[in-house]
Amino acid sequence: MLEVDEVTVRIGGLSVLDRVSVSVEPGSVTGLIGPNGAGKTTLFDVITGVRRPDSGHLALDGTRLERAAAHRRARAGIARTFQALQLFGTLTVRENVLLGARPLGRGARGAAADAVIERLGLAAVADRPSQLLPTGTGRLVELARSLVAEPTYLLLDEPASGQSESETAAFARIVREVAADGVGVLLVEHDVPLVMDLCSTVHVLDQGRLLTTGTPAEVRADPAVQAAYLGSAVPT
Ligand SMILES: Nc1ncnc2c1ncn2[C@@H]1O[C@H](COP(=O)(O)OP(=O)(O)O)[C@@H](O)[C@H]1O
Ligand SMILES: [Mg+2]
Repeated sequence: MLEVDEVTVRIGGLSVLDRVSVSVEPGSVTGLIGPNGAGKTTLFDVITGVRRPDSGHLALDGTRLERAAAHRRARAGIARTFQALQLFGTLTVRENVLLGARPLGRGARGAAADAVIERLGLAAVADRPSQLLPTGTGRLVELARSLVAEPTYLLLDEPASGQSESETAAFARIVREVAADGVGVLLVEHDVPLVMDLCSTVHVLDQGRLLTTGTPAEVRADPAVQAAYLGSAVPT
């Protein structure tokens, strides 16, 4: 299990995260939703080691992580995609995906990259510079780069934004398969129906605080959650 325990992050005197506890079970999809500025991306930065929390703990299958460097966490099995795409624009799709591969032999890395590229339906664009791709396809490339590392936990930051309907459908199918293979997925997404469809548990953040944790049905019915979504019903 990936455990975030009472994590606090302060930026310029403001609590961007205030004693937030979140957990992700292996083999499941956990949602993390909340309005813009709630702290979702910051939480990903804390989990991946980009940002050190002011207090709180992190553990991966019982091993404490909060002092580990980012590359050690990656090696321990934590992979992510980025809300603002972080692809090397002049490199091809295949080269970008290869950057995520584990240090196997050269042939094995290529084979692993090609298998993931095929699986995500990216074969036709594999040799194209990634800067020529639409955002939605770029998100699939980031997913491919994460998956080729064979993560045990996968953090996805708004993966469906900018995607076409067919790309989102492909993405949803892969997320289900990945979780069925035993990976713990943490999904940040504004497409609430997609979150409700994919997730067994949903955490709701608002202004750095965890509002609630529950099943999709529980979260949808929670008045505090509805208030956080500007006083209107949670989009269904
Ligand atoms: N590097 C930074 N400097 C100043 N403020 C930041 C920084 N990163 C995030 N914040 C602030 O932290 C809050 C949470 O941001 P973020 O984690 O990106 O939220 P979300 O991903 O839920 O939209 C926002 O108010 C944002 O302005
Ligand atoms: Mg964000």
